[in-house]
Amino acid sequence: MLDFEFYNPTKIVFGKDKIEKLNDLVDKDARVLILYGGGSIKKFGTLDKVKEALKGREIFEFSGIEPNPKYETLMKAVEVVKKENINFLLAVGGGSVMDGTKFVNLAANYDGEDKTDLLKYGFTPVPVSKGLPIGTVVTLPATGSEMNGGAVISYDGGKFSVRSPLSFPKFSILDPTLTYTLPKTQVANGVVDTFIHVLEQYATYPVDARFQDRTAEGILKTLIEIGRKTIDNPTDYDARANLVWCATMGLNGLIAAGVPQDWTTHKIGHELTAIYGIDHAKTLATILPALWEVRRKEKGAKIVQYAERVWDIKEGSDDEKIDLAISKTREFFESLDMPTHLSKYGLTKDDVDTVVDSLNRHGMTNLSETGDLGLDISRKVIEKAL
Ligand code: NZQ
Ligand code: ZN
Repeated sequence: MLDFEFYNPTKIVFGKDKIEKLNDLVDKDARVLILYGGGSIKKFGTLDKVKEALKGREIFEFSGIEPNPKYETLMKAVEVVKKENINFLLAVGGGSVMDGTKFVNLAANYDGEDKTDLLKYGFTPVPVSKGLPIGTVVTLPATGSEMNGGAVISYDGGKFSVRSPLSFPKFSILDPTLTYTLPKTQVANGVVDTFIHVLEQYATYPVDARFQDRTAEGILKTLIEIGRKTIDNPTDYDARANLVWCATMGLNGLIAAGVPQDWTTHKIGHELTAIYGIDHAKTLATILPALWEVRRKEKGAKIVQYAERVWDIKEGSDDEKIDLAISKTREFFESLDMPTHLSKYGLTKDDVDTVVDSLNRHGMTNLSETGDLGLDISRKVIEKAL
């Protein structure tokens, strides 16, 4: 096992009707800014419940955080934070709203003139030393943003990771019933995003990290069991509750501790979202199987382990197990109505250069668990994903 530090300060409050707990979780004299997206929380009554639970406090609202939240939109929220002397940020929504709220907090507290500086640090924590407390009410299980210190922000044709220990929410309310109103395609996004988060922390090379591996395999098996079920039966509480908790545990640092990670699929996926507007999870479903086909040698030992333990593939040579594991993975995504080829989104050979150029422009030239994946290999992966 590799050395690691593990830190996670987020309190989770899980279950039906837990929005009421906001009254205990947020100080009575707080000046709260509620941040949200395009209006789903208004339409489905969540905003009213949140306001009712926060009664007695000074409440302000900032709406319009779009999917793949834009820097320019978030900077408008920074103005509200300053003007209204806000001292608590409450994100009510999915990954975009939670990420956007984290960025608002960092930008409001960054001393530098140009807040786009914050987009240049990637996986290194940004130089911001103080921030407001953040709470979240999760309406879309997918990103794990409710229990991690990361955010992904869109700016100038790219998507940028922004990290800080200040970005861990103080608490997150996970009420699976708040997610019942999601369109089927967003639920599928949640299943696939979570599945691939787990794989990017698992399918690298073995380091004898048994707890992390078996926990990762447990999440993957759970998603295979409940994925289609929770899409078809959105109000089946137990199926949805399992998705919600898997999404949170898939990217809160637990299974990442002490293991190599390979975020190539996400990095190529971010370019595809930035250029073509394809949903985050949908980009991943096309890239991961292609990446594994190209990197079957480097990842072979872990893919064989995945084949045996997650898909119960016991027969055949290692090569046959890898082939079958890749095709089972594709079939699983397709069974959720999630295409695994970029041609389904209208991309052709002519688009490959555009994506490779964009990776180059954003410095994505040393990807993978060992940093050996250059643009030539990314090109092969994108070609295979077509
Ligand atoms: O904006 P509203 O009207 O609320 O509608 C949203 C949005 O259109 C809708 N929605 C959310 N909850 C709903 C609902 N509709 C009906 N009922 C509900 N209960 O869903 C749409 C998509 O929302 P979004 O927040 O964009 O989706 P998701 O949670 O998948 O977040 C994607 C973003 O998170 C980033 C992605 O890059 C992308 O920008 N990620 C963040 C990560 C992190 N912080 O750790 C890691 C991930 O890998 C990912 O990169
Ligand atoms: Zn993701």
